[in-house]
Amino acid sequence: MRRILLLCFLLSMQTIARADRGELLYETHCHACHGPEMHQRSRRIATDWVTLQAQVRRWESNADLQWSQEEITDVAHYLNERYYGFSEPGHRQSDHAQSKSQ
Ligand code: HEC
Repeated sequence: MRRILLLCFLLSMQTIARADRGELLYETHCHACHGPEMHQRSRRIATDWVTLQAQVRRWESNADLQWSQEEITDVAHYLNERYYGFSEPGHRQSDHAQSKSQ
């Protein structure tokens, strides 16, 4: 039982760290051009989890940031939790980012 609790704790710590990294990367590299309004406009280009990732990849390569696949996913995950709310296949939805933004 203890082991299971420890495992849950470690997994949730990892999720928080990854969400924070996505936020940090976005604030550092992407925020200069647009803020929330870009992700909340009515005719959004990102219409699901796959196209959201594609947009993050597109802007990442535009700015020649050389992010790893994991970093791209982290930023897409951050934007998804904060603005888009698409379902992410294979990704557990965590609710800490939503509660943080409110
Ligand atoms: C040079 C300015 C600029 C930078 C830097 C930039 N963006 Fe953008 N971004 C735009 C503009 C302009 C649009 C809307 C027009 C378009 O998509 O062509 C956009 C659109 C988007 C969209 C689509 C929004 C939607 O749903 O319609 C996403 C997602 C996005 N950017 C993510 C990022 C990320 C992640 C980064 C950092 C790696 C980033 N952008 C950096 C200018 C920028």
